[in-house]
Amino acid sequence: MDKSNKGRGIVAPSILSADFSDLKAAVEIVERSDTSWLHLDVMDGIFVPNITFGPKMIRDIRRITNLTLDTHLMITEPDRFIGNFAESGSDYITIHLEASIHAHRSLSYIHDYGKKAGISIVPSTPVIMLEELLPMVDMVLIMSVNPGFGGQKLIEKTLDKLIWLKEKREKYNLNYLIEIDGGINRETCLSAVASGADVLVSGSAIFNSDDPLEEIEYMLKCFQNNVQFR
Ligand code: DX5
Ligand code: ZN
Repeated sequence: MDKSNKGRGIVAPSILSADFSDLKAAVEIVERSDTSWLHLDVMDGIFVPNITFGPKMIRDIRRITNLTLDTHLMITEPDRFIGNFAESGSDYITIHLEASIHAHRSLSYIHDYGKKAGISIVPSTPVIMLEELLPMVDMVLIMSVNPGFGGQKLIEKTLDKLIWLKEKREKYNLNYLIEIDGGINRETCLSAVASGADVLVSGSAIFNSDDPLEEIEYMLKCFQNNVQFR
């Protein structure tokens, strides 16, 4: 089974909606699927009104899987913890523009640790705020809900940001992945992909389903049937 995702998009199941008392089961579901990413939502109770987990959880998950660990830091002043999250075995570390005054420096720290660096914005932040950072990032994560909780409805207007990012990537011959996070399910995945998403993060639609594997496969098919992956 080719899980390299070459020639097609990526689905990154978020464990936020999985049973935290049995995360091993959630990881095993993703391993049995045709995707190879796992999305890890780190929340500090300040940047967002919720608290999840820290580097130890990610280190423990790293021990049981070779999946690409896609760590989404919803924490203030992320520089304080970038080293810890890098050492925990994350592959991608994404910070929020709104949480780091010197985002350029924060992204450089991530690269210094040999990790892929992502930048994210909440729905109220204009995407143009990212323009200066685009040449240095490996991924841009567009929040399509206000971060903090799973199970919210996608804010349609945020899809315009994907279109803008795709245009800029082509215009300047850049290489970042475009990821969308929040409210992605069977109803919304097609428009997200058509707007330019390479990576679909999905939590509740997958882990609240009776058949999580089927949900992952459905979302992967959105890429095959509609737009070409770069
Ligand atoms: C929300 C998180 C998301 C969340 C998505 O703040 O960043 O990754 O898990 O959950 P769903 O897919 O349920 O909207
Ligand atoms: Zn997330």
